[in-house]
Amino acid sequence: MSKVIKKLAVLTSGGDAPGMNAAIRSVVRTCAYHNIECVGVQRGYEGLIDGDFKVMDARSVRGIINKGGTILKSARSAEFRTKEGRQKAFEMISKANIDGLVAIGGDGTFTGAMIFNEEFDFPVMGIPGTIDNDIVGTTHTLGFDTALNTVVDAIDKIRDTASSHDRLFFIEVMGRDVGHIALNVGIAGGAEEILIPEEDLGLDRLVESLNRSRKSGKTSSIVVVAEGDKIGKNIFELKDYVDQNMEGYDVRVSVLGHMQRGGAPSCFDRVLASRMGVKAVESLLEGKSNYMVGLINSKMELTPLEKAIKGKTKINLELLRVSDIMSI
Ligand code: F6P
Repeated sequence: MSKVIKKLAVLTSGGDAPGMNAAIRSVVRTCAYHNIECVGVQRGYEGLIDGDFKVMDARSVRGIINKGGTILKSARSAEFRTKEGRQKAFEMISKANIDGLVAIGGDGTFTGAMIFNEEFDFPVMGIPGTIDNDIVGTTHTLGFDTALNTVVDAIDKIRDTASSHDRLFFIEVMGRDVGHIALNVGIAGGAEEILIPEEDLGLDRLVESLNRSRKSGKTSSIVVVAEGDKIGKNIFELKDYVDQNMEGYDVRVSVLGHMQRGGAPSCFDRVLASRMGVKAVESLLEGKSNYMVGLINSKMELTPLEKAIKGKTKINLELLRVSDIMSI
């Protein structure tokens, strides 16, 4: 029988994402609601190894639902990837009488949580927080919706310059291995082409398509490129190639970078974070462990961490087709 949970810890790890604070708030308040003690772990798994814990009560998370980043700070811990590091973390956790852990982050965070669970039979629950939306077991990760809105806003602004100067802009958006951000913002921002890792358009077809839209009367164009795109060139080489192989456009590059991860979470991300925190804590209290909470068909569901990590998210083919039709 699983041990009765009296005290939980919560941490954020990996790249920060808008909505992480709202999720911390939800975990802390759900613990308070169920009369469970809660501690916040500073700097992700680093803080777990150092025993950097602070007691959190319902009032300690006031005023953070609308804040980007993470009040607990985040890190990508190299030491937690070692057996010695995890052993130290377990000793700290045992000393502090912590009975379970809610880990908010992406696939690296979940891999750490899963191994920790395997080695020490310690109850863990994951909340998916990454702007990339590259986790299986949820239609939306925390921060994805906010990042989409941030990027669309940036594209709208760049479009003002593109159309005023008759320019072609290559805009690079985040998405190390996946094109979810690129595909959605490409459609919402009215891009002529969207380059994503899941689809290799090829350079010739890209130039052909841009030429076609130029001839059809377009005087400026936007191409959205996911940072992990596999077309074989980085965005600056891509710009040079198009510059050399196409006439009539002044070509520019804009790399949006980390501004995509910042800012106040959207309403959607705040609600999602609040729901995920409740589900994560209550699932641990029910004796469940080694799962990730996620949104499937509008409901909170659990997916085994292993499946969430190993699975590959699929690009929505319908969106690809819509984008093709819209860019005629
Ligand atoms: O995983 C989220 C992400 O934003 C990726 O899209 C991006 O490649 C990466 O983080 C950047 O990480 P860092 O902040 O460590 O440079």
